[in-house]
Amino acid sequence: MSKSEPVKVERRGGVATVIMNRPEKRNAMSPDLHRGMDQALAALEVDPEVKCVVIRGAGGNFSAGQDLKEFFRALEDKPAEAKQIQEVANRWRWHRLYNYDKPTIAMIEGYCVGGAFMQLLATDFAVAADNSVFSLSEVNWGILPGALVAKVVADSVLPRHALYYACLGDAFDGKEAARVGFVNYTVPAEQLEDEVAKLADRLMAKSPVVLRAVKQAMRQVRTMDFDQARDYLEAKDTAIRVDDPEQSYKVGLSQFIDKKSYKPVYQPFKLGTLANGKPGA
Ligand code: ACO
Repeated sequence: MSKSEPVKVERRGGVATVIMNRPEKRNAMSPDLHRGMDQALAALEVDPEVKCVVIRGAGGNFSAGQDLKEFFRALEDKPAEAKQIQEVANRWRWHRLYNYDKPTIAMIEGYCVGGAFMQLLATDFAVAADNSVFSLSEVNWGILPGALVAKVVADSVLPRHALYYACLGDAFDGKEAARVGFVNYTVPAEQLEDEVAKLADRLMAKSPVVLRAVKQAMRQVRTMDFDQARDYLEAKDTAIRVDDPEQSYKVGLSQFIDKKSYKPVYQPFKLGTLANGKPGA
């Protein structure tokens, strides 16, 4: 892997894997890596072949956080350049991923440190190796969990866990990350790729339009009161019935009520189209 390629993209069917590719630096995030991630994610979001995006690191680690040399020290006397790259870093690690049109999965192995918690928590799902190592190490560098790290951590786990790990900077393993809610679940390291592939396949079996609406709704209602949420959800529900080219609702009802070929608790509906206004198989 060349140093000139801080980001790589690999494809398997509808799954695109975006790889932070500085294994010799434990995938610490340099300005070039941030630019590469921002560009890759922007391109994949509008690529019709891509249905699901996985984010991982090269060489057995997720990321050792911001590059202390290239992102911090080298930019100390360059405020304009620093501001510009901070914007790019925050855009892909938060705004882009948090609002992404397609399902996203963080695949965590090895180290996941400091600023890497942003992309960890902005993705929709995270699966980790049992023995992966997490740390909010900022306190040990004499800095805050900055950019939006403190915010996304406080938003994701119970206050006691957030304070404990942010104030102490202690390392914890994947199983602890799952227990407190930083990741969905863990598996032995040797099963991680297969497990992420399985999750991606399950997500891709859903209607993309419906899945996008569900994940947007789950994120947006968090900051709404009950009346706002009811109104928003009604509008969103109406919108997907119009937008969904697979007509999931009507097809699902027909398969359950008329054909008796489908039980939604156990399986996604079989994709079908409405030929001549009639649900497909
Ligand atoms: N910034 C810049 N370089 C880094 C970083 C980083 N965050 N992390 C690792 N590197 C570099 C090391 O300097 C070293 O470079 P070198 O080979 O030129 O000397 C190389 O990556 C390998 O690192 P090692 O420390 O030798 O690898 P090891 O596997 O023993 O340890 C570990 C990995 C635990 C991740 C360690 O490198 C570390 O503690 N890094 C700092 C992690 C951190 O605190 N990140 C948060 C930064 S602050 C923020 O993100 C907001």
